[in-house]
Amino acid sequence: MQDVFMNTYHRLPVTFSKGQGVCLEDVNGKKYLDFTSGIAVNCLGHNHPALVKAVSEQAARLIHTSNYFQSDVTIRFAEALIKMCAGAGLKKVFLANSGAEANEGACKIARKYSLVKYGPGRHTIVTLKGSFHGRTITTLAATGQDKFHETFGPFTEGFAYIPAGGIDALDQALDSKKVCALMMEPVQGESGIRPQSKEFMQAAAKLCAERDILLIMDEIQSGVGRTGTFLACEQYGAQPDIVTIAKGLAGGIPVGAVLGGEKTKDVFAVGDHGSTFGGNAVAAAAGLAVLAVLETPGFMKEVKEKGEYIMETIRSWNHPSVKEVRGMGMMIGVDIDGEAWPVLESVLSKGLLLLSAGPKTLRLLPPYIITKEEINEGLKILKSVLNQ
Ligand SMILES: Cc1ncc(COP(=O)(O)O)c(C=O)c1O
Repeated sequence: MQDVFMNTYHRLPVTFSKGQGVCLEDVNGKKYLDFTSGIAVNCLGHNHPALVKAVSEQAARLIHTSNYFQSDVTIRFAEALIKMCAGAGLKKVFLANSGAEANEGACKIARKYSLVKYGPGRHTIVTLKGSFHGRTITTLAATGQDKFHETFGPFTEGFAYIPAGGIDALDQALDSKKVCALMMEPVQGESGIRPQSKEFMQAAAKLCAERDILLIMDEIQSGVGRTGTFLACEQYGAQPDIVTIAKGLAGGIPVGAVLGGEKTKDVFAVGDHGSTFGGNAVAAAAGLAVLAVLETPGFMKEVKEKGEYIMETIRSWNHPSVKEVRGMGMMIGVDIDGEAWPVLESVLSKGLLLLSAGPKTLRLLPPYIITKEEINEGLKILKSVLNQ
């Protein structure tokens, strides 16, 4: 069976056939607690009734129209999304299918904004070391990790990398004659769940605003309520010019979004950008269902509280194998003193699914609907494996 797939993924040895809530069931009927949410995608768990209803009813009504036309549900989804992001000053959206595609759109907006206003030569996009922005040639170039730059060159030119957290380096790098944008994750995901400091984020927003450099927040992993607010950047008081989101936005149906604020909302002209599937009616219906659940009073606050409960519980073990626990909301990284992969294999054999983020960091991204009992059950498995 493996022979049919290209060699892109290091997969754990399990094949699933069903899911319900926080549980996944493999083809042999064994059940697992899913603390991964399909890498921050199934934010409402598996087969959430509102999501299933929305997707099935939409599929029975209208699946796709192409962007030569509009579908009613896509308009409603875009309006609801803009409403959710109004606090971050975002005004218009372009709908895509994935995180990388959303980031490509963000880079295009930044380059065009600068070209039209300042002419050629001001096209550099500064990103942070340790960042992850996607797998296309341009988003790999944007990714500030050498290991992603070893093959597949030549890459898209015009990216520069600076250390996360260094305000002096940031000040120097943001040369307003050459730089059009700063792109960053409020919480670096793939490289170990590392929230930016408030000082760094606010300095970045201030410097960008002063120099008319666009601030792009890649919230593909941290957005859609994962950190306890719709966008993580809301908690930093840092005003972005562009935000990208994807992953959890339609609870498991592929979707991505580029959101623009006052400066960027009208940069694209007709013909500048497009995507055949972007804003597909089924994805839009799924997205509307997710947003409706997130808007339930107190829902996102609970995400934050559950995340804090998880972090506090692990810290309270004072376990010799646990070096550090960090995160925001239900985006949690646990540094351990050994390799993460054997822990993923061991917890799997005991019915728990975890991810890694780097060689020695366990990554926990549980679905928002997880109960305290399910959290305790999963953490009991993790502790028993760390004790081995
Ligand atoms: C912060 C961030 N940006 C971009 C991406 C790429 O998203 P996708 O895999 O949907 O293209 C990811 C995926 O993990 C991500 O975490």
